[in-house]
Amino acid sequence: MADPANIVWHKTTITKADREARNGHKGAVIWFTGLSGSGKSTLANRVESLLFASGIRTYLLDGDNIRSGLNRDLGFSEADRKENIRRISEVAGLFVDSNAIVLTAFISPFKEDRAAARTRVGNHEFFEIYVKCPLSVCESRDPKGLYKKARKGEIKNFTGIGSAYEAPESPELVIDTSEETVEESAQKVIRLLEKSGIIK
Ligand code: PPS
Repeated sequence: MADPANIVWHKTTITKADREARNGHKGAVIWFTGLSGSGKSTLANRVESLLFASGIRTYLLDGDNIRSGLNRDLGFSEADRKENIRRISEVAGLFVDSNAIVLTAFISPFKEDRAAARTRVGNHEFFEIYVKCPLSVCESRDPKGLYKKARKGEIKNFTGIGSAYEAPESPELVIDTSEETVEESAQKVIRLLEKSGIIK
């Protein structure tokens, strides 16, 4: 690790405020958290499509995709999940600086790691969305067949079975995907961003 005393932060000529003024919206992180199969990616994709169609700069960071590249060296131990979320928070923070609305779809099972992500990004630009769905419903959906494998013991620390999921205590929004449609949920997220002054 480099000695932090020898690392000097460079201020950029173009500031965050310059980007906001030109693009007409603020940057933010919409942090979707929930069990595998809860609907994080589906909802994040729908919200991104709505924002994108309105001319807003967006980017979606998704669990399996990030684990195929940037975080391909990480597994699913507690330490690796922590590092996974730490790196994603750093990337998300950079996207916010670039004036994007970044949507993240990671299980992010541990409260402490989500709190650290909030701190890294900044409270006013961080929106935690709890994608709530009973384990039994996620398991019946089992879109990737992973719950089945976990029940057979083929995946050791699968979230909700061999590894904990700590539900958010005070997220900005709770979406129950077993009760409402993707469209209803997506509109709730859009309204939250409007109400918070991130988009007009
Ligand atoms: S975490 O906990 O936030 O670090 O996980 P994440 O980066 O979001 O990756 C979750 C996806 O990885 C697949 N997968 C597992 N999930 C949970 N536990 C274990 N052990 C596991 N092994 C593989 C699974 O496809 C998750 O995708 P989603 O989209 O959540 O279903």
